Amino acid sequence: MCGIIGYTGGKEAEGIIVDGLEILEYRGYDSAGIAVSQKDGSVQIRKCVGRVRDLRSLCRKGEIQGTCGIGHTRWATHGGVCDANAHPHRFGKVTVVHNGIIENYRGLAKKYNLQDRLRSQTDSEVAAAVLAHFYNGDPFAAIRKTVLKLKGTFAFGILFEDISEAIFAVRNVSPIVIGQVQEGSMLASDVTALGQYTKEYFVLPEFHVAVLKKEGVELYDMSGEPAEPEWMTVSWDVDKSSKGGYPFYMEKEIMEQPQVIAETVQPRICGGMPDFGVDGIPDNLFEDCKRICVVACGTAMHAGLVGKALMQSLVRIHMDVELASEFMYTDAIVDEETLVIAISQSGETIDTLEAVKYAKKNSAKTLAIVNVRGASVARASDYVIYTNAGPEIAVASTKAYTTQLAVLYLLTGRMAYVRGSFGETEAKSFASQLLLAPEAMQQVLDRKEEIHYIARSILNAKDVFMMGRGLDYSILLEGSLKLKEISYIHSEAYASGELKHGTIALITEDTPVVAVVTQSKLQSKEFSNIKEVQSRGAGVILFMKETFELDKEAAWESVFQLPAMEDSFMVMPASAALQLLAYYVSLDKGLDVDKPRNLAKVVTVE
Ligand code: M6R
Repeated sequence: MCGIIGYTGGKEAEGIIVDGLEILEYRGYDSAGIAVSQKDGSVQIRKCVGRVRDLRSLCRKGEIQGTCGIGHTRWATHGGVCDANAHPHRFGKVTVVHNGIIENYRGLAKKYNLQDRLRSQTDSEVAAAVLAHFYNGDPFAAIRKTVLKLKGTFAFGILFEDISEAIFAVRNVSPIVIGQVQEGSMLASDVTALGQYTKEYFVLPEFHVAVLKKEGVELYDMSGEPAEPEWMTVSWDVDKSSKGGYPFYMEKEIMEQPQVIAETVQPRICGGMPDFGVDGIPDNLFEDCKRICVVACGTAMHAGLVGKALMQSLVRIHMDVELASEFMYTDAIVDEETLVIAISQSGETIDTLEAVKYAKKNSAKTLAIVNVRGASVARASDYVIYTNAGPEIAVASTKAYTTQLAVLYLLTGRMAYVRGSFGETEAKSFASQLLLAPEAMQQVLDRKEEIHYIARSILNAKDVFMMGRGLDYSILLEGSLKLKEISYIHSEAYASGELKHGTIALITEDTPVVAVVTQSKLQSKEFSNIKEVQSRGAGVILFMKETFELDKEAAWESVFQLPAMEDSFMVMPASAALQLLAYYVSLDKGLDVDKPRNLAKVVTVE
């Protein structure tokens, strides 16, 4: 979490850095700050609690000039949310911005007698102090000695007071990308912040030092030997990072789904067959494994659950879905016959990354499904399939989730074919259904005002339950997470059959229930379970496949009929409907939909 940025070049740094922080704000928004190096090497700092817009006003009040600087937007880990804990942190001649966690900061503070000399409660200031301790005019030596002392994760942007107009950067795990821009160079936590200045960038290799100057970027390994950056090209338009006329990114990203799903699926259908030739994935990866294990967090984990339901029933392969944060701490059993699939929008979620490393250490084959090109999870895995969702800025994941689902459908189709559960005709028919998903979702999106109307009935609810079976249950877990995270309404998704084993005690006339019914073989059981909660007074909002017969006698709070696809694909239109439901509740409550409290888009701390 936290976003860092740096610019040095021919222009005033403040505006460029603050604009960049606004783009990175999704990574954390507890406080923000900027440090600008002056011609004489001295460094001016402005920082405050609140959003980047507050920092912008602060900078306006006390002008800050200079063409080289670093900036930070914080998601608090160590030390509360206050001005003193906001970055940048200055200690002696060193000023840093930091993303990550220095686990041994207490020990370091003790070792270097820092306790009474620190102005914040942060681990980051301790790192600045250790750098300052080792700095005697040689920045490389100071950085080298410091990183040897640090335990934990870090991405640092560093200014040394007597080296004007140069930014030093070093990292372990936490990301930094670097680009050369017109008359200067920039670093940032991710490429979206560089997008309007350059399309060429490289990922700073771990334990390498980059020096950013107006003339360009130099890269060195830890022994001081020059190293060659691996340049990459940003694959999405800058325009795609804007709100495009919508009030919130989340709405824009929901509305983009038909297009980005088509862009994810189409290149992977060849001659009508699901095909990963474009990703360079050999079929023996799918043939040789005995079981699959998904590692992921949050929404990405929910995508894995849909994948599991599909794979187990259509490929007949054993598949587990593990919370990445628990994976290695439960001594997960994986071996050379396991295919570990890591799913991550950002590709930077530390738990997912560590799970991939654990899987590799245990000889498993690893396949990443990632949205951000060149991200750590993609680089750490044997193979990668990129979702073509484009930049997802809203903290609540929407289009990243459904493009992950699209890839999981493709994987199901290909695996079923290469392992013999599907013949060619079935594989082709499966692929052709998937190609219809964007249109089915579009039909839901075109009726968004109906869902807006439905959302009003849960606006003031304290608790909302969601119920469904099979695939419907899997997507409700995600629908419920969406509602919780952006509307702050407590919500739980339940497998319908499980409710009466305890939780039904919580159902009253004040507990709205959202039910999804899209699976033919489960519908009669589903409707019976719905009756059970209706009998306890719950008002039920029903999302139902349009071809199913509705019990018109029942007292529905509301009913939304979902465009019909084959049962296995109903997940796609139903997901869009649940996303809109959560979105409109949050919107009508007047909340900051894109930046819900306490959250950050990229979770780079364990
Ligand atoms: O970047 P990742 O997909 O690895 O992120 C994992 C979760 O933090 C993420 O899916 C989170 O649950 C969503 N932003 C919630 O909408």
